[in-house]
Amino acid sequence: MKVLITGGAGYIGSVTARRLADSGYDVLIVDNLSLGHRESTGTLKFECVDLDDRKTVSRVCGDYKPDAAIHFAARSLVGESMTDPLSYLGGNVAASLNLFRSLVENGCRNIVFSSSAAVYGIPGSVPIDENAPVRPINPYGSSKWICEQLLGQFSSSGLLNFVSLRYFNAAGADIGNDLGEDHEPETHLIPRVVLAALGKYPSVKIFGTDYPTGDGTCVRDYIHVNDLAGAHIAALDYLLERGGSTILNLGNGDGFSVREIISLVKEVSGVSFSVSEEDKRPGDPPVLIASNSRAEFEIGWKPQLGIREIVRSAWEWHSMHPDGYSG
Ligand code: UFG
Repeated sequence: MKVLITGGAGYIGSVTARRLADSGYDVLIVDNLSLGHRESTGTLKFECVDLDDRKTVSRVCGDYKPDAAIHFAARSLVGESMTDPLSYLGGNVAASLNLFRSLVENGCRNIVFSSSAAVYGIPGSVPIDENAPVRPINPYGSSKWICEQLLGQFSSSGLLNFVSLRYFNAAGADIGNDLGEDHEPETHLIPRVVLAALGKYPSVKIFGTDYPTGDGTCVRDYIHVNDLAGAHIAALDYLLERGGSTILNLGNGDGFSVREIISLVKEVSGVSFSVSEEDKRPGDPPVLIASNSRAEFEIGWKPQLGIREIVRSAWEWHSMHPDGYSG
């Protein structure tokens, strides 16, 4: 089974690519390395490809002839999408369409798509299931929703089948394979707090303290990157065994506030650090918690790792790599 993995040098992509290779899949990573790390791809097959370049994308699909693709490559920061919407509404969408088209033209009919809880915007209630209204409040969420709609049209036209995975907050590290989260700049909560404990940042900033939540800070559903990797294998099996298309939430079903994460990092690391209270970050919904029962029902996926394993593995990986892959 041949699987083309776009964005396979990125955080979730690299962990998933390694898991697929270890499970016996033939894997080809394509990544333009604008955000990913060549070091994270190890000895897996790799081509430096920009998905904006449709000719090259089509050539790679034609040469490799994948049975399925997993499409991770995208810009994925809520805050950045508010200040640079064109990279999301233009860049993410155009690159995805190039890929979808090239796959179909080269006979590949199966795709797993990296979507996001950001499509839900501010949910009416939690936990959020897949029937909840989709009304993104930032261009990042909109770009994922547009791609899902494109996939829906490709699917209903009989061109391909897809599983769209709506990730909640990916976090943690794959310690066994020495793979972790390394963004430049780092904006995500868990790595920022862990790096503050390691003395890489002078303090942790809490963005907003008067949200309608228990302690006034935003609540998120953190899901271990190894659990996400397992979901992609289950999604591939679904596509190849059953056909059809579906959309699934991937989360733990538990919510933790920013303050709770900070306390847990202090506990796991045994290090104290200073914390400042700042203005809200534009585009942040107060609470995102997944209902993950559809994923269990449709692809037999259930997360195995909780918030302690997430924080502990992040602490361990960043302690070993305080400067990320370049260190
Ligand atoms: N936060 C802080 N201080 C920081 C960093 C973050 O208070 O230094 C807060 C944010 O304001 C937010 C929460 O911590 O309330 C989580 O922020 P992250 O940046 O870690 O993650 P997001 O929830 O913004 O976004 C992530 C992914 C998106 C995905 C979303 C889905 O980056 O791709 O989860 O839930 F869409």
